Amino acid sequence: MGDRLSNKVALVTGAAQGIGAAIAQAMAAEGARVIAADRNLAGCQALAAESGIAALALDVTNESDWAAAADHIASTFGSLSILVNNAGVELVKPMTEHSLADWRGLMAVNVDGLFLGCRTMQPLLAASGAASVVNISSIAGLVGYPDQLAYNTSKGAVRHMTKSLAIEWASHALTIRCNSIHPGCIRTPMLEMAVEGWVREGSIPAEDPWAAVASLCPLNLVGSPQDIGMGAVYLAGDEARFVTGIELVIDGGWVAR
Ligand SMILES: NC(=O)c1ccc[n+]([C@@H]2O[C@H](COP(=O)([O-])OP(=O)(O)OC[C@H]3O[C@@H](n4cnc5c(N)ncnc54)[C@H](O)[C@@H]3O)[C@@H](O)[C@H]2O)c1
Repeated sequence: MGDRLSNKVALVTGAAQGIGAAIAQAMAAEGARVIAADRNLAGCQALAAESGIAALALDVTNESDWAAAADHIASTFGSLSILVNNAGVELVKPMTEHSLADWRGLMAVNVDGLFLGCRTMQPLLAASGAASVVNISSIAGLVGYPDQLAYNTSKGAVRHMTKSLAIEWASHALTIRCNSIHPGCIRTPMLEMAVEGWVREGSIPAEDPWAAVASLCPLNLVGSPQDIGMGAVYLAGDEARFVTGIELVIDGGWVAR
């Protein structure tokens, strides 16, 4: 337990499980008052029950959900100084098998959700006087992967939206910093589903598939959601007051090769 984020209110999207839940817990452990938001409210409530975090139903693709979240935060917490846009979905199949509905559905969560969140929360963030937005991109936002056109494109957009907003907010003297995190392979329900698929198609062995995933990484590790939580705590806090527009890669060396 620390106090690196004391006196701050943080909203984390996609916080019912995986990386979002770990970010919410890491921020709460550093003294932030955390609101865990997800379209899966039950998952957030389970997290809230064990850690004193508040739970909120929020579908990041829904404009009126965002407006309701802003009203709720203003009336219940009085301010917002940290927004973590973490909610995301993945799609792995060849480009010719992406339907237009697949494409638009993924962009709605990974790209529209971030736009709606930043636009809706800007007034509350600016009013806090020292705010930080942390956007969860991916190493797939830096380099290409086969059969991931929509996901690659969306995460590249997250990277660039981050830089655009960092500069826009700085140029308007809004005191809102904005940075992206680029996780490598992190063991969450999303990656577990992907690994099951790799085993089915025979690209990694069924026996000890996680050792095979680790062996793809220079540090020979699979990341944990807590590895991303610690990066998010740094970017969210005042220790990072001179840091905006960066891409923090947390990937065990994956893209350094
Ligand atoms: N796990 C990895 O290896 C990895 C690597 C790089 C980037 N990421 C990114 O990290 C983020 C979290 O990934 P994860 O692995 O924890 O995934 P996950 O699937 O385990 O969890 C994602 C969460 O987002 C929520 N969500 C999805 N759509 C939503 C919506 N419309 N509104 C609100 N909530 C919604 C889900 O309910 C779920 O709780 C994603 O943006 C993902 O792209 C993950």
